Amino acid sequence: MNGRKAICQRGYAKLNLSLDVCGVREDGYHEVAMIMQTIRLWDEVTAELQPVEEGITIECNLPYIPKDRRNLVYQAAELFLAECGLSSGVKLHVFKKIPVSAGLAGGSADAAATLKALNLLFGTQLPIARLIEMGAGLGSDVPYCLIGGTCLATGRGEIVERIRPMPEAFAVLIKPDFSISTPWAYARYDEMQSDIHPDLEAMQAAIAAGDWDGIRAQMINLLEPAVSDEYPVITDIRDQLLAHGARAALMSGSGPTVYGLFDKEKSARRCYFQLKKYFPERYTVIMRELYQPLGKRRLRNARKEAAN
Ligand code: C5P
Repeated sequence: MNGRKAICQRGYAKLNLSLDVCGVREDGYHEVAMIMQTIRLWDEVTAELQPVEEGITIECNLPYIPKDRRNLVYQAAELFLAECGLSSGVKLHVFKKIPVSAGLAGGSADAAATLKALNLLFGTQLPIARLIEMGAGLGSDVPYCLIGGTCLATGRGEIVERIRPMPEAFAVLIKPDFSISTPWAYARYDEMQSDIHPDLEAMQAAIAAGDWDGIRAQMINLLEPAVSDEYPVITDIRDQLLAHGARAALMSGSGPTVYGLFDKEKSARRCYFQLKKYFPERYTVIMRELYQPLGKRRLRNARKEAAN
């Protein structure tokens, strides 16, 4: 033990800058290729030791979040304790700010934060590769949430590599007042299919060059037509974001959150205030900067390298 009583870790929300579906696998999952980006919007997971007979308990600021095994945080703690052969109870306090069931990987971010927090709380010092392995067993987006930044995710989403960082930008996110089930979105995609696919090499080149026209051309999410066919408001939101100055706009993951990207804070702010008035009050409207968890020097070097 390292003597500290409570450890708090952040789990950041993600946006899909593109999502390509490449086929259906034997295990029923879809083979995907996605470019992901973290934003400065996070949940916090605080882990504390408690007597073994109290087991794993979860508290959350949102009363409707399940506190049992249905919660990925619970599953992450259970897996971590089992894998490390630890017999202890843990109390996990989850403070959620990321909209739930929104296509922003909130649940996966919480699971990633739980693994990191427990690794620190128990002083187990497991390498990130081991946490990623555990994360992949919990959900397809958990490995990405452990790494963060601008990444390419393949396989069912669990094979993650960092790519050149996105240029500095701001996102305006709009989540309508309904939720989308991920299996449903993939099933709809299977019925509809698509002839259009993002060119991920072109996307990475555009990101490296800070070429917004190139980024916009490749911001394609194959689940978006499947979801917007049933929920046309997705397309309305995208059109409104573009009409209010977004350089590009897309649905994230299996939705329903749609976001627009802006290269200037001022134009993002203007769009944020205008669309907050335009859409019903029950829609969630958020503005956040893109986030690179790299540290200033590494980020500067990565951007310099990208420019060459
Ligand atoms: O991995 P995760 O538990 O987040 O996936 C939830 C569901 O989404 C899966 O059970 C599957 O129906 C669908 N899915 C998929 N292909 C992926 C990721 C998720 O079909 N690559």
